Amino acid sequence: MDRKQEVLRQLRETGSYVSGQQLCETLGVSRTAVWKIIKKLKEDGYPIEAVTNKGYRLLSVEGKDLFNKEELERRLQTRWAGRPLIFSEETGSTNADIFRLSEQDYPQGTLAVTSKQTAGKGRRGRTWISPPDVNVYMSILLRPDFKPETAPMLTLVMALAVHRACEELYGKGAGDAEPCRFGIKWPNDIVVSARDGSWRKICGILTEMRMEEKEIRDIVIGIGINVNQAEFPEEIRETAGSLALALGHPVSRADLTAEVWKYFEEYYEVFEQARSLSPLREDYERALVNRGKKVRVLDPESPYEGVALGINEEGELLVKPDDGSEVRQVGTGEVSVRGVMGYV
Ligand code: BTN
Repeated sequence: MDRKQEVLRQLRETGSYVSGQQLCETLGVSRTAVWKIIKKLKEDGYPIEAVTNKGYRLLSVEGKDLFNKEELERRLQTRWAGRPLIFSEETGSTNADIFRLSEQDYPQGTLAVTSKQTAGKGRRGRTWISPPDVNVYMSILLRPDFKPETAPMLTLVMALAVHRACEELYGKGAGDAEPCRFGIKWPNDIVVSARDGSWRKICGILTEMRMEEKEIRDIVIGIGINVNQAEFPEEIRETAGSLALALGHPVSRADLTAEVWKYFEEYYEVFEQARSLSPLREDYERALVNRGKKVRVLDPESPYEGVALGINEEGELLVKPDDGSEVRQVGTGEVSVRGVMGYV
């Protein structure tokens, strides 16, 4: 445990004043060092009161969206997903960070989390707009020993985990609050039912793979979740949303992050054993908002419309074309699928 964590632990445990002297003795550092640690904690958002002759006291953190390494590690219940956890206030792209860490031999499960990205990457070469201090941007390192063709399915595994985390935390309605409904727009966008009845995208997932010879060298799954963002740029205003906008109140990014990795670890292990989505298919289809809905498959050669039926065990979308022809299997990454009436 580092010094900052130790001071926090003592303040939390005591629930009252801890003298500067006591902190100096238990940490084996000078008064100035203790003062510097307290200053850092305050900068991280912890409300700490300092009273002469009494010492330091942690005031209530309830309702505060504290998002830092300490808060994340305190909540993480996993065995390998998120271990180690590398937190930064700001970075270019957490996907790029993970590739760099992989080159330094960091293990499977290494997680990069940040509060702001300056070069966030989206799917299809787009930018992922990543404003500071409101959202979650994170990426995990995987080094699976399965075939490269299996890799795109991981995106669906991740989508399932984010969806489940949202359902568990915000889908049941706490107190008098109305529960929110969540869904997955194939293959991997998480959507929430907004107050105006539309589905809004709150999470995007970008999986990137590097190969060595014909084998997987490493895989990064990056997730961007719009948590407490209140406004969106013009170009995505119609389709994007955030958890806070849907729920009507801000939420804790640290709680959500820990919940995501809890379910990812669970689902990943099921997937790894089966090497297919078959054991997860039912859960995925239950969350699939396109199911039974009219979709437009934007195949550049010959776009068509049909009804989405579900997925197969490889994660391909099954679409029954309107022209009565046989059910088609739409692969992830091949084409885009849009709702006929709008985004879903
Ligand atoms: C999408 O376009 O829907 C996927 C967006 C993925 C964004 C996340 S944010 C964390 C990670 N780092 C990146 O640069 N991109 C992913």
